[in-house]
Amino acid sequence: MTDQTHTDPETLSPANAGAEHARLAEEIRAHNVSYHQKDAPVVSDAEFDALFRRLLELEAAHPDLATEDSPSQAVGAEAAQGFAKVRHTVPMLSLGNAFGEEDVGEFLTRIRRFLSLDADDALEIVAEPKIDGLSVSLRYEGGTFVRGATRGDGNEGEDITANLRTINDIPDTLHGDAPDIVEIRGEVYLPRSAFRALNENQEAEGAKIFANPRNAAAGSLRQLDTSVTAKRPLRMFAYAWGEMSADVAETQWGFLDRVETWGFEKNPLSRICASLDEIIENYAAMSDQRPTLDYDIDGIVYKVNRLDFQQRLGFVSRAPRWAIAHKFPAEQATTILREIDIQVGRTGALTPVARLEPVTVGGVVVSNATLHNEDEINRKDVRAGDTVIIQRAGDVIPQVVRAIAEKRPGDAKAFVFPDHCPVCGSEAVRDEDEAVRRCTGGLICPAQAVERLKHFVSRNAFDIEGLGAKNVTALHADGLLANPADIFRLEKNHKAALLEREGWGEQSVDNLLQAIDERRNVSLDRFIYALGIRQVGQATARLLARTYGSLSDWRTAMAAAQDREGDAYADLLNIDGIGESVAKDLLAFVHEDHNRQVLDDLDALLDIQPFEQPESDSELAGKTIVFTGTLEKMTRSEAKSRAEALGAKVSGSVSSKTDLVVAGPGAGSKAKKAAELGIQTIDEDGWIEMVSG
Ligand code: IVH
Repeated sequence: MTDQTHTDPETLSPANAGAEHARLAEEIRAHNVSYHQKDAPVVSDAEFDALFRRLLELEAAHPDLATEDSPSQAVGAEAAQGFAKVRHTVPMLSLGNAFGEEDVGEFLTRIRRFLSLDADDALEIVAEPKIDGLSVSLRYEGGTFVRGATRGDGNEGEDITANLRTINDIPDTLHGDAPDIVEIRGEVYLPRSAFRALNENQEAEGAKIFANPRNAAAGSLRQLDTSVTAKRPLRMFAYAWGEMSADVAETQWGFLDRVETWGFEKNPLSRICASLDEIIENYAAMSDQRPTLDYDIDGIVYKVNRLDFQQRLGFVSRAPRWAIAHKFPAEQATTILREIDIQVGRTGALTPVARLEPVTVGGVVVSNATLHNEDEINRKDVRAGDTVIIQRAGDVIPQVVRAIAEKRPGDAKAFVFPDHCPVCGSEAVRDEDEAVRRCTGGLICPAQAVERLKHFVSRNAFDIEGLGAKNVTALHADGLLANPADIFRLEKNHKAALLEREGWGEQSVDNLLQAIDERRNVSLDRFIYALGIRQVGQATARLLARTYGSLSDWRTAMAAAQDREGDAYADLLNIDGIGESVAKDLLAFVHEDHNRQVLDDLDALLDIQPFEQPESDSELAGKTIVFTGTLEKMTRSEAKSRAEALGAKVSGSVSSKTDLVVAGPGAGSKAKKAAELGIQTIDEDGWIEMVSG
């Protein structure tokens, strides 16, 4: 086997990349022949996969190597596992949801407030159908399609260029004039008619039946054999962009028009709305039309039309402030509730779950639904044996809406909520101000331990390939994993035990251990999120990482903050976005001995990267800023998000750690304190000048 170089393909010269590619291609072709034609493979699947992956990586970095005769384009590449990873230069974000008129109204109000618009200032909104497919990002260089990727976790997706090339709505070259670098984003979908035909065909062939068009589209795009994808009539609507080397429009509408001239499809049902009334009218019209469309839509996306407004509005956490998805109402179905089980979650919460006679709701078979909590069961008086109405909306967990009283069997008994954990037997208590009852067993409770492990390996956390919820549960049950640090000790402590597991060959064990190894290097914000601390989601984890920078600085600060009278605690509460309740959960977590032990172990086993300030050559990067008094030309939230976008931290009070105070009229004690401490203080105009450079 060729000695595999591991040089980053991006850094290879075209000549060296070409030479390595040619060598690999030849080798892969020879293996293909041995495998497919002679039935006599000379390398293991894992070795073959490694070669193939390297080939794809080279092609991802040097797209002109992906010639028609490359094995990557060939039918019969099905032995390859997985796709090369692609980092999105501009992250692919998600959207906040609106579930009714009121939410949409608030969305508009928020925008007007943020931009300081008067009620009679125009605010155009583009309303686009929300296509229920898969989002992709397509990169064009010099007008030529060079790379296409799935969304993945938003930062990193999979290179599915070859499959995307089979889609007619994706031009190979952009028509007309376009900037040198263009990244188009849109939704790939399978038309409903094609979905029905596909399933009929699958059934006839005894092959897998797809639950809905979205799953079928996903299955088709992630085909390793491009010829299979080519047979599925996938389509795409373009609606957004990633990296662009030049501006192409001043409005979202202008953008949609522009991409149409390049050869993409824009959704013909998109329109501009000038008011909430028009938005609601359009929503009603689209709901009526929905059943007659040849593709699934699950809502309407609203986007601020003016791109300069979008720019000012920016992002909150992982979603734009300038867009929202207005979801269609949940789809409902009726079924029998067999029994009510109690599940114990990561933080010990006892959640009642309804076990149902399986039923299809909105194209998906549902056999479990949540009943939320104790009060909810009492309020709805749902009992085992009841006929119930259930609903699901988008990706949310199906819910029990209500029981149909007339159909209740005579012997159905009211549910008694347990006051002990059904898994570990510890007492389950309910705080006065809380709706949930929690197991007090902590990590001695196997359910909590497993849920924490599941969270730790989940997609937005460590995202370890091959270590999903099922495997984590099994490895925990067999005593191979007790806490997150054990994951990184599997190879040393349990390799033999892994190899003995039923159905786990040498290859799958190697793949798993390699996937684990690849994740030893992790960013601080991802790491903090992965710990699964109550109330510490991705946004809060990022705030903490941004504020404290490195794991050791964060831990030192948390230890010091245990003293509620001290500065460290005040600093923690000063982080805009962290209140007393979050602080309480955070400090309780780091106070526990076993958590501290796990943190020590992980620190030793991993390479945790300090928080990288967003790339910014601004003089504000890394600085701590306090806004005080009234701002007249921009709102406080606009000023704050602008500061954060430039890499600064925004704090609520002035201390010796403050670098800059922006004081508007009416600034009182904070401006005074800044003066005492000799901290640079500027007014709003000074601020605007500083950030507009
Ligand atoms: S815009 C930064 N427009 O919905 C905003 N998304 O919940 C990026 N989607 O991941 C998204 N139709 O997969 C946008 N007309 C549309 C859309 C759309 C469907 C999907 C997309 C995205 C998800 C967000």
